[in-house]
Amino acid sequence: MYRIDPNKLPRHVAIIMDGNGRWARQRLRNRVFGHEEGANSVREVVRCCRKLEIPYLTLYAFSKENWQRPLTEVSALWHLLNRFLESELPEMVDKEIRLRHIGDPDGIPEEVFKKLQTAVAHTAGFDKLNLSLAINYGGRQEIVRAARLFAIDVQEGRHQPGDLTSELFSNYLFTAQYPDPDLIIRTGGEYRVSNFLLWQLAYAELYTTEILWPDFRENQFMEALTDYQGRERRFGKTGDQVKRELAN
Ligand code: IPE
Ligand code: IPE
Ligand code: MG
Repeated sequence: MYRIDPNKLPRHVAIIMDGNGRWARQRLRNRVFGHEEGANSVREVVRCCRKLEIPYLTLYAFSKENWQRPLTEVSALWHLLNRFLESELPEMVDKEIRLRHIGDPDGIPEEVFKKLQTAVAHTAGFDKLNLSLAINYGGRQEIVRAARLFAIDVQEGRHQPGDLTSELFSNYLFTAQYPDPDLIIRTGGEYRVSNFLLWQLAYAELYTTEILWPDFRENQFMEALTDYQGRERRFGKTGDQVKRELAN
């Protein structure tokens, strides 16, 4: 149904999976029901990336700010994540998907963090798809952490302040060695980045849709990719320059 050009796929897709609560509310159900159904969308989008050979996918699962939600919802989210990490590990291994965590380890319930570490360790040798889960993640916090780590390196004589470049700074982020996202998708109709990958999104193409995350499945993902393929990425140049470069 969708005509996707395999030569123009994004290398890295990042997704703000939003709208689970509203999805459940529309069905007169508890918000947690929406998160549970959202997990099925995660599975489907991961399979899709794997099939299309998109090498990097980063999913925003729990933000630093999400701690402010009611305790019952926060606990349910951890419970769900715990179950998800366990149930999905065999498929990740089978499909040679490498799982990584970006975000602050401090504060993540121990049981969840252990499952996360187990899955990360078990999949460390794979590279068919690099799946990063942003859990207890905040973009500003990540940048501050990177600045601190660089300051320590200066203090301990490994670097001079003048060594710092954008490239070097990137190496202090959780996403060191990853390409920057080419495409960021936000479901749920909001037009904001909510503290996600602030540094890395510098030149990402933004795609927002009213569709709520539990309804975002293969077809909707394909539609986002189709939209992305119609974009002209100029990186500060003129449209004519870009067209000339593509023709050569
Ligand atoms: C996104 O859905 C999931 C998380 C933030 C964990 P929401 O729970 O934010 O759903 P809405 O935005 O309230 O509908
Ligand atoms: C962003 O969604 C965080 C995740 C998807 C994990 P939120 O629902 O928390 O974002 P805001 O509060 O609407 O900006
Ligand atoms: Mg939300």
